[in-house]
Formats: sequence, C-alpha cells, structure tokens
Amino acid sequence: TAPEIHDSTKCNLGDTRYFSNVYKKEHIDYLLNFKIRDDDVFVVTYPKSGTIWTQHILSLIYSKGYRNGTENVTSENIVQCLELNRLNNDPAARPSPRLFTTHLPYSLVPQDLTKKGKVIYVTRNPKDVMTSMYHFIDLVSFKMKPNFETFMEIFLAGHYYPCLWFDHVREWYNNKKDLNILYITYEDMILDLRSVVKQICTFLGRELDDTSLDIVAEKATFKEMTKDTRANKNSISDTYSFFDSSKGKFMRKGTIGDWKNEMTVRQSERFDALFMEQMRDLQINLIWDI
Ligand code: A3P
Repeated sequence: TAPEIHDSTKCNLGDTRYFSNVYKKEHIDYLLNFKIRDDDVFVVTYPKSGTIWTQHILSLIYSKGYRNGTENVTSENIVQCLELNRLNNDPAARPSPRLFTTHLPYSLVPQDLTKKGKVIYVTRNPKDVMTSMYHFIDLVSFKMKPNFETFMEIFLAGHYYPCLWFDHVREWYNNKKDLNILYITYEDMILDLRSVVKQICTFLGRELDDTSLDIVAEKATFKEMTKDTRANKNSISDTYSFFDSSKGKFMRKGTIGDWKNEMTVRQSERFDALFMEQMRDLQINLIWDI
C-alpha cells in the first residue's frame, strides 16, 4: 500500500482552533517545503515524551567541551523547535549542522525529510504522556483546568496539540522505510541513559569515548538538568508569552508509572483497550511501570 505521506487529511489534527498559528495554511506550506540538508537532525516527539531531555543530550553531543563555554546558551537555542521557531524567525537561516525538535505529525513534516537528514523519534508510554500533559497544562494558563476524567476524554479525542497520540506514533513508525530514523524510548533512557546516549552518537556518526559518554550521561540526568538553567526551561515564559512559568515546570517528576497516581482502574482499562485496538498492527513494546 502507498505510504500515508504528507497528507494532512490522514492525520487527526484535533481542534485546530487552538493552534491556529501553527496550522495556518501559509505556515504548513512553509514547513512542507522546508529544504532539508544532509546533516540536519530532527528530534521528533509527541509532547511530554522527553523532548527537552533529548534536546539537551543533542546540545551536549554537538557542543565542544559538552557545554563548557556555552554557559549562557540554552539547549533550546542549540536545538530549536521547528514550528515554534518559525513563528519568530526563519529556521532555514541557521548554520549547519541544524538541529531541530518538532512535534509535527508525519503528514506535516518537510517533504524533503524522506531524502535527507536524520530523525530521532522518542516514544513514551502514553499513560505517562497523558499524566505529564495533565500537569503541564497548568503552564499554559487554561482559564478552567478540566478534571482528569474530562482531560482524558479530550486527550483521547486528539484535541491537544499536535494531534491524537495514536496517530502520531503510528504514522512515524509506519513510514520508517522512507526515513533515516532511530527509535528510542523515554523508558529506556530512564533505565539505561548511557546506552541510549551511545546509540544516539552512533546514529549521528559522532562517536564519543567512554569518559565523554559518562560526562554527557551525567549532565543529562534529571537531577543535573533540574539544576541547569540552560536545560530546565524554568524561564520559558520569557520567550513565549503563552506559558506561565510560575504555574508549573517542564522538569516535574521524571519517572515511569506516574499515571497510577492519577488514573482509576476503570480509566486505565479503557485506555488499555483503546491502545490494543489502535496499535494492534504495530510492533511496539512499551514499558508502563517498573
Ligand atoms: P513528567 O511530567 O512526567 O515529570 P517534554 O520535554 O517532551 O515536554 O517532556 C517533559 C517530561 O520529560 C516531564 O515528565 C519531565 O520531567 C521529563 N524529563 C525531562 N528531562 C528528564 C530527565 N533528564 N530525566 C527524566 N525525565 C525527564
């Protein structure tokens, strides 16, 4: 069957009223036609799956001295969000190697990505994604925060940016033959960060010796990142007015299985049934709990 390529009608984009800036036709056209270079790297995630974590790891791998000498540069400056950056300036003008994060569904990413560039796709078990997002929306200053039950319905209807979790993951996995892509998971990073950093380095052709690997893995731990103002995004509201940093944090808990503190047994079983139904054709093993 033909791949579901760059056809936004195939992806449930949720309620685009909330994302009118990102999903404006002119903006989508810009992204679809964005010219990729061979050494471009894209960290692709569904939100709350470990974006800033992988972003910081890349900033460490690509910076001399693993960020010594770049004290005043945030990881977000080194590895920029493609769609948010586009709202402020022109990401195409960045010098190579250009490093990006993006939450875009496969159907909306630059069409050139199938010929050039590398993709690192980070997956996290969706119950923890949903739980993390439930807390994260405090930062986005909702007038009235929904209760968890209502939030789950909205999440499962695909009404949060960028689209339905199942669609995002399925599309990015189903089209792997067209991409130069490495799949990693949030849970593997929790269980053995150093091995995942090593995998990333090999994929990017930037091998590190054992000591350097130790340094990068140490600087990317939850504890270190929480202290590091270049990595923790505690001042995100200085850059984007729609965030309110006084209300919440990107670096919140950083664990596997926090969903058990929010979801009832009934909600969890409903989620499991939906997961089985939606992901049954996909070879994907996720860790839900440790
Ligand atoms: P929690 O809210 O469950 O704590 P994103 O960057 O995609 O928005 O994801 C944010 C989630 O990644 C948050 O999850 C955050 O705590 C977690 N995270 C970020 N850096 C981490 C690290 N070094 N170790 C573990 N979790 C991390």
